[in-house]
Amino acid sequence: MRVLVIGGGGREHAIVDACARKGHEVLCTPGNPGIAALARLLPSPQDADSLAELAVQEGVDVVIVGPEAYLAAGVVDACMGRGVPAFGPTRAASRLEGDKAWSKAFMTRHGIPTAQHRAFTGLAEALAHAATCPLPTVIKDAGLRAGKGVTIAHTHAEAEAALHDIFTQSGASVVVEDFMTGQEVTVLALTDGERYALTPPSQDHKTIFEGDIGPMTGGMGVICPFPLPADALAVIQSDIIERTLAGMRAEGLPYTGVLYAGLMLTPTGPKVVEFNARFGDPEAEAVLPLLESDLAQHALDAARGQLDPVSVRFRAGASAVIILAAPGYPAEPQKGIPITLPPTGAGEIIYHAGTALQEGKLVSSGGRVLAVTATADTLNAALGRAYALADRVAFAGAQLRRDIGARIGAFPEKQTESDPV
Ligand code: GLY
Repeated sequence: MRVLVIGGGGREHAIVDACARKGHEVLCTPGNPGIAALARLLPSPQDADSLAELAVQEGVDVVIVGPEAYLAAGVVDACMGRGVPAFGPTRAASRLEGDKAWSKAFMTRHGIPTAQHRAFTGLAEALAHAATCPLPTVIKDAGLRAGKGVTIAHTHAEAEAALHDIFTQSGASVVVEDFMTGQEVTVLALTDGERYALTPPSQDHKTIFEGDIGPMTGGMGVICPFPLPADALAVIQSDIIERTLAGMRAEGLPYTGVLYAGLMLTPTGPKVVEFNARFGDPEAEAVLPLLESDLAQHALDAARGQLDPVSVRFRAGASAVIILAAPGYPAEPQKGIPITLPPTGAGEIIYHAGTALQEGKLVSSGGRVLAVTATADTLNAALGRAYALADRVAFAGAQLRRDIGARIGAFPEKQTESDPV
C-alpha cells in the first residue's frame, strides 16, 4: 500500500514507523529528519485542498492525518471528496477537540461523565465566575493551543491572569471547570464511526517539572500500559467511548479516526478531562511500537467504514517514552542546539519531534525535540532502557523528567541486555 502521513512530529514518526515496518511505501509531508529515514518526504502545501491534490497526484491508497490543525482545516473532507480514503474525523467532527466549549456541551447532552464546568465568550463574565470558584480551578482555552491552553489555577490571581491571557485573542472563548483528582489515563479508540478497537491505556505526564508541577506542556513522557482496573475499563467503554460515538452519529457527525479520551480516574469513577481528535503525542510513540497488526490497513478499513476490531492486535509487554525537550521549553525553546544520537538496540527507538538539519548536522528546532522510546517485557525494564538511552543522547541543556511512571509506582530498572520486545 502507498500511505501518505501528514505531519512532522514525534507522533508522525511513530505512525510512519508503524506503517513502514509492515512493508508499506510511506510518503510524509512535511516530515522531519528522523522520518526521512523511513519515508519519502514531500513539500508541504499549506491548505487542505492542496494536500488532498497531492494525495491524488501521488496515487496514495490511504492518508493518515497526525496533527489536529490539519483536521480542523478539513483535510479529511478534502481527501474524501476526491475519493482518497483518509483516516481522521471530518472538520465538523473534529470539533470534539477543536472547540472545548462545544465538546463540553456535547458531553452534557449525551450523559458522558466529565467535570462540572461553564463556558464563556466574554472576559468580564468569566472573571466574575472564576472569582467564585473553589481552588484549584481549571481554565481552558476553548480553541486549539497544542496542549498548552490549560492552566490549573491555585489562586484566584492565577485564574485571572490565565483568563486575561486567553482573551487577548480575538474570538476567544473559555471553559472554567472543577479540578478533578485521581490518576490520569489516556484511552485511544481506533474507529470507523461505529465499530472501535482500543489501544492499551497509557499515561502521559503533562507538566514540565517532576512532581507534576510547573507549566503545562504537550507531554513529557508516557508509560504504557497503564494498569487500568477492569471495572473502570468497562465504564470507559460503555459510558464514554460508546456514548460518544453514538452521540456523534446521532448528531449527524459520524466520527472516524482516533478518538483520544483523556480521562481522570476520580473517586466517583472515570471522567473525561478532554477529547482529542487524533493520536496523542507522545502517547502514539508509546502505543504504536506495541502494535502487532497493520496500522495502514486499519486506517484504510476505518476510512471505508469497515474496521474489524478483532484484527487490531497489540503484543504483550510494555513501553516507556522519555521526552527530551529544548532548554527554555515551554515558554521559549532554544533552537539550533546540536544533537548527537547514540546507536539504538532492539526494542529502542528515538522518534524525532522537533529536529532539523543545519548544514547537514542535526539540531533542535522545536520545544519537544526527541521522544526516546523503549519496549520490554515489563514496564520497569522499559523505563530502565528508555532512560539509559536518553542519557546517551548528546544534547546540551536538554530537559527531561526523571519521574515518568512514578505516579503508579513504576521505576526504571537497571538496564540489562535481556527482554526487548
Ligand atoms: N499528550 C497530550 C496530547 O496529545 O494532547
